[in-house]
Amino acid sequence: MTDNFILQMNDITVQFPGVLALDRVRFDLKPGEVHVLLGENGAGKSTIMKVLAGVNTVYEGKIIYKGKEITARNIQEQRERGISIIFQEMNLLKNLTVAENIFLGRQPLNSIGNIDWKKMYHDARTLLNSIDSDIPENALISSLSVGQMQMVEIAKAISFKSDAIIMDEPTSALTAKEVDSLFRLINKLKTEKVAIIYISHRLEEILEIGDRITVFRDGKYIETVKAEDTTIDKLIKLMVGRDLSEQYPRVKCSPGEKLLEVKNLTKGKHLKDISFFVRQGEIVGFYGLMGSGRTETMRVIFGADSYNSGEILILGQSVKIKNCKDAKKNKIALLNEDRKNHGLILAFSVKENIVLANLDSVMGPMGLNFTKEEIISNNLSNIMSIKTPSMKQKVNFLSGGNQQKVVIAKWLNSDSDIIIFDEPTRGIDVGAKVEIYKIMNKLKGEGKAIIMVSSELPETLGVADRIYVMHEGRITKCFSENIGLTEDEVMKFATGITTEVL
Ligand SMILES: Nc1ncnc2c1ncn2[C@@H]1O[C@H](COP(=O)(O)OP(=O)(O)OP(=O)(O)O)[C@@H](O)[C@H]1O
Ligand SMILES: [Mg+2]
Repeated sequence: MTDNFILQMNDITVQFPGVLALDRVRFDLKPGEVHVLLGENGAGKSTIMKVLAGVNTVYEGKIIYKGKEITARNIQEQRERGISIIFQEMNLLKNLTVAENIFLGRQPLNSIGNIDWKKMYHDARTLLNSIDSDIPENALISSLSVGQMQMVEIAKAISFKSDAIIMDEPTSALTAKEVDSLFRLINKLKTEKVAIIYISHRLEEILEIGDRITVFRDGKYIETVKAEDTTIDKLIKLMVGRDLSEQYPRVKCSPGEKLLEVKNLTKGKHLKDISFFVRQGEIVGFYGLMGSGRTETMRVIFGADSYNSGEILILGQSVKIKNCKDAKKNKIALLNEDRKNHGLILAFSVKENIVLANLDSVMGPMGLNFTKEEIISNNLSNIMSIKTPSMKQKVNFLSGGNQQKVVIAKWLNSDSDIIIFDEPTRGIDVGAKVEIYKIMNKLKGEGKAIIMVSSELPETLGVADRIYVMHEGRITKCFSENIGLTEDEVMKFATGITTEVL
């Protein structure tokens, strides 16, 4: 039977201090298939793939690759064997160019042994073209969006001419168009017999692209199923071990005063005449494609970016928000989409990160009150069900989704009235998503004004009371009621096919 498999991993165990991340799990791979690895945040998906890629070299168990037992000792060796990985948390060097990152450490040389820059940029261009990407090969990584960085990671992995490519949440930051080209690329790779290991929390997408699906739960192997034989509900049950009663729980509230109002906000070419409001006791969804200006709008309101003209009002009073301090004073909180750059201090503990947004809440007369810090962070960690061996664990060591939960916990502690969630569920498993929606509903019930920026339409339709749609820096539509709306209707305004002059 071994002949059918390019890879078999058996009885793989990984133990971190205080965490048994993998407990004798298995995973296998056939040439030319897309094998999805599914599981809740912290289930061990990234860990087993880091073993395979030669990143996490302390493991027990057996890896048989192309019929031979191997030891995964380091990244280079695994790459030479034909296994490459696209990491969940990006690993690019920000002040180098796209081409330099792709060919880092293996730049093409000319006849006298110097780097052949022309060839390197040319090769990078060809590679980017092959994945339908128009990212300039000479752009600095720091100038790219998260989605574009993800595409560069993908281009880099492709360039290694691998037999097996591990994609750890490749689409979590991609636009719909980029997802399409990634899927086309995956299909092309399949015809070339390249095997793909695919990790994602987007269940619809898994059924679309996957051939087989393996589920892990809490570091244990649960089951492997064929995509054609399963459904989203069945997968959820395998992942969380129970039926999930409601994917989008809803709470009815009658909205109160306009807590936040924005009038004619303009910022260069990026934001054009943005006007909207959010009332107490409502969740307002901002839907749009990546780059439509949603995050920019929120950053302006939070004082993280400046603006040219327009007015921001809180409870009808015009306010000046010049920096984040002003925003916090006005009880505005922003949960960032890019946790690695803005949301968290990775070298700090879970506890420290949680109390960071509101140090006053943990200060006593003698300075930091450790008991308060402990109680508050424990409580929020429980609410968010953060999977960590202790509150003292460095955030760096948490799984991707659990890091996201820490960002949310941090802002829940900030005692704000206007809470902006920018892509709050990106990379978060389906069970925890429901927890986050419940928290938003609870805050709404307390009379807070909630803004949710999301690129996922089912989520926007499922959670928001009203929806603003953005396209190319403008609000193209306000749905003042979210009843009976269809995805198509909203999508028309997000793609700019239809525009309503507001
Ligand atoms: N370097 C590390 N040190 C300590 N614990 C770690 C380390 N890396 C991972 N862990 C722990 O191992 C467990 C599995 O983490 P892993 O990153 O594999 O989860 P995951 O399934 O990829 O989750 P997600 O969907 O959130 O990305 C988690 O409890 C995590 O906190
Ligand atoms: Mg992971």
